[in-house]
Amino acid sequence: MQRYSGKSILLHWLVAILIIAAFALGTYMTDLKISPTKLKLYSWHKWVGVTVLALVAIRLLVRLFNTAPAYPNSMKTWEKQIANLAHITLYVLMFGVPLSGYLYSYAAGFPVVYLGLIELPALITPDPTMKDSFKELHEILTNVMLLLVILHIAAALKHHFIDRDNILKRMLPDFSNKE
Ligand code: HEM
Repeated sequence: MQRYSGKSILLHWLVAILIIAAFALGTYMTDLKISPTKLKLYSWHKWVGVTVLALVAIRLLVRLFNTAPAYPNSMKTWEKQIANLAHITLYVLMFGVPLSGYLYSYAAGFPVVYLGLIELPALITPDPTMKDSFKELHEILTNVMLLLVILHIAAALKHHFIDRDNILKRMLPDFSNKE
């Protein structure tokens, strides 16, 4: 069986964990009353989101310069096309979600200080209209991403338990003893 490279597998699961963390923090923090805890969680949310953005950029480069393992022959052409489309859309959203949050933060006049140490570049100046638009965009893109992630997980489980092919296994580390 041909697996993804170790780099690709590590980046896939790291990004997956960080996206779930950013989603959980984002959903929880927005409902809190203003307090030092809320502000701290906003910072953590931004740091996790910016880390996702950086890792996804690396992930895309790794993906473009390495050939992904071929789909099993048991998959029909339309299934392969849908899978490719879903993966491309996920990449677009993995950039779009953190970028819209980043732009929202600057449009609202709040700088993003990564890990409390490095102030990241302001790509736009504060703007109340843009602020509302980016906030809405961030929310919409996050919800679309959530839906697609759920479909992505459902598809992986279908391949594993119903089709019984190697699609899920090739994105898991190989713990078998090669000696
Ligand atoms: C994968 C990355 C990210 C995910 C999954 C994510 C997810 C979320 C979610 C679920 C919310 C709550 C939306 C709502 O119901 O109102 C939220 C809010 C927010 N996000 Fe993100 N986010 C990400 C990255 C970022 C980044 C990189 C920034 C900024 C640098 C950011 C800034 C914000 C801010 C400021 C809010 C609060 C909006 C408000 O005040 O209502 N996010 N995010």
